[in-house]
Amino acid sequence: MKTQVAIVGAGPAGLLLSHLLHLEGIASVVIESRTREEIEATIRAGVLEQGTVDLLAQSGVGERMQREGFRHEGIYLRFRGASHRIALTELTGRAITVYAQHEVIKDLVAARLAAGGQILFGVKDTALYDLDSGSPKTRFYWNGKVQEIESDFIAGCDGFHGVSRPSVPSRQRHEFTRTYPFGWFGILVEAPASTEELIYAHHERGFALVSTRSPQIQRLYFQCDPEDQVKNWPDARIWEELHTRLEGTDGWKLAEGRIFQKGIIAMRSFVVEPLRYGRLFLAGDAAHIVPPTGAKGLNLAVNDVRVLAFALSRYFKSRNEEDLKSYSATALKRVWRAEHFSWWMTSMLHRFHDDTPFQHRIQLAELDYVVSSKAKALTLAENYVG
Ligand code: DHB
Repeated sequence: MKTQVAIVGAGPAGLLLSHLLHLEGIASVVIESRTREEIEATIRAGVLEQGTVDLLAQSGVGERMQREGFRHEGIYLRFRGASHRIALTELTGRAITVYAQHEVIKDLVAARLAAGGQILFGVKDTALYDLDSGSPKTRFYWNGKVQEIESDFIAGCDGFHGVSRPSVPSRQRHEFTRTYPFGWFGILVEAPASTEELIYAHHERGFALVSTRSPQIQRLYFQCDPEDQVKNWPDARIWEELHTRLEGTDGWKLAEGRIFQKGIIAMRSFVVEPLRYGRLFLAGDAAHIVPPTGAKGLNLAVNDVRVLAFALSRYFKSRNEEDLKSYSATALKRVWRAEHFSWWMTSMLHRFHDDTPFQHRIQLAELDYVVSSKAKALTLAENYVG
């Protein structure tokens, strides 16, 4: 096969890139190791920044998001048993939209297929070759035989565990990592909303988060041991932990319901530099990971491919390589801003295993400051909405 851009991975980065390139008249083929059913059912975060919402809407894939998503104009920080609102929209003029990542995936897959776009699902043994030549190759096993795509460029959008990043020689890769000594236990619940806006809660037993998917479905998380297992958490134990961490002295109550999904999420910060090797460009989780506090992951992937699609279109229209050359530096600037924000939110709200009473008081002092200083609240708000 021949195409202009071979895209490895049908997550938000790969699918949106393929869609944006198509709008510019640039051909691409997306390959994906999982099935369509699997990618459309994978539960991830659900907070879209205003810029993400605007890009999806302007590029023609935002219709269902605008109908079914929920616009939120604030969030709550909850500590010492009381809630404090951060007025995102009042402070920044912008808002966030709660719309699950797998719904974004469904919309993008539908748009690509409707436009005749090629997505090859269930490919195996993908390997990238000749990355530093003018015609890089993507080789994989699909439909009973070995296939090869020859392209002008390859976009590595295959996530943290994908083959793209390790295809860059290790001498050319600088990696920055921090792992956190905790994970998040996430559940989906059939219950009415307990709150109109998300609640980020600090508690001496650890962090908890109340989010939503719809008026009937709620998304809840609580900090856990990263080595813990779902089977250790029967429903009653989950509810007891959530009530303890979330309810305080102000009478607010968490509504219970039927739990129909449970999972544990690892927490890490990671960046690789640069985001380019020869004709391979890395985007999304293949290039960087943030801990989930603040929900930046999907939004960073969207920003990467916005910059990359623009740079590729400039190249194909006028053979101008300037924007391709600056892709890595441009995208990394925003990546590091979000790395700092996610690390800061994580550090302020979680219990660390080596916490001393001093550190606990320092966290509370910072939270007090965030909810009482307009300058500090604005810092949180402008990073949160993007
Ligand atoms: C959700 C996830 C997050 O990481 C976050 O900070 C807020 C909300 C969610 O899945 O709804």
